[in-house]
Amino acid sequence: MKKEMKKILVTGSVGQIGSELTMELRRRYGADNVIATGRKTEPSEELRNSGPFHFIDCTRIETIEEMVTKYNIDTIYHMAAILSAVGEKNPQLCWDVNMNGTINILELGLKYKMARIIVPSSIAVWGPGIPLENTPQETVLRPTTMYGVTKVCAELLCDYYVQKFGLDIRGLRYPGIISYETLPGGGTTDYAVAIYYEAVDKGKYTCFVREDTRLPMMYMPDCIEGTIQLAEADFSKLKRHSDFNHAAMSFSVTELAAEIKKHIPDFEVAYEPDYRQEIADSWPNSIDDSAAREEWGWKPKWDLSSMTEDMIKHLRARKESGTLYR
Ligand code: SER
Repeated sequence: MKKEMKKILVTGSVGQIGSELTMELRRRYGADNVIATGRKTEPSEELRNSGPFHFIDCTRIETIEEMVTKYNIDTIYHMAAILSAVGEKNPQLCWDVNMNGTINILELGLKYKMARIIVPSSIAVWGPGIPLENTPQETVLRPTTMYGVTKVCAELLCDYYVQKFGLDIRGLRYPGIISYETLPGGGTTDYAVAIYYEAVDKGKYTCFVREDTRLPMMYMPDCIEGTIQLAEADFSKLKRHSDFNHAAMSFSVTELAAEIKKHIPDFEVAYEPDYRQEIADSWPNSIDDSAAREEWGWKPKWDLSSMTEDMIKHLRARKESGTLYR
């Protein structure tokens, strides 16, 4: 029988995805039923004023447990993570937050018999040895970043808790996520967000990866929709659990810049690749997400052209009101 999700805890709710996911969950399930948490960064006024918010530290299980008991939590969206670029600067922190944070969430899931736990994964699970185009669901996972290592381990750990303890856990491999509400924090795909901000703000951008770098990407509304769709899918129909490939579009920086130029004709891009180039080169160009489409009906709505139009419209409005970077 499908257990109900009544009280939801979101970790990493101040982050790029967590902030928008929390607001959407509040719209769908009721503001007081979605408990937002973060580690250090102050939440936006919207996040803090729209429902409960608390600071926790996922590496300290007692700080999560306090929330679980206080609010009678039955569902966790575990969005807290150290991303790829920051992870390469501080691999121990990346391991600590991503691995110890995740096992703490799973242990509390068991202890309090939770209805559901969602743990996102990433295109960072891949590394050398994969087919770069349309990377299949099943292929070697040999990441070369600490972030990727932790994401592979977390997928396996989640599947272990599903098989061994019957815990209901779901996860999907996010591509680079593009959005205009909250800036991403320390990932390799951040250039695909920064380029829009700088195009609107200054009409030029210096990109930290080469122009021919092509990675799988997705617009935030699709990311949120897909995440909630997977969370609400019938568990008995899922053959996989923690590692669904999740795709929408793929483009090179040249193609992205050309699309932006349709709206900002004088836009100029320069290229100064740094250590993040190597990370980007180890990830797929595009991915095959047919398992997600078959098992829980995934279908993206946004492509490069519609996303670019929407991003520029929103960022221009923010620039005019003097709140581009908030
Ligand atoms: N956006 C992430 C990163 O670049 C990938 O999951 O680290």
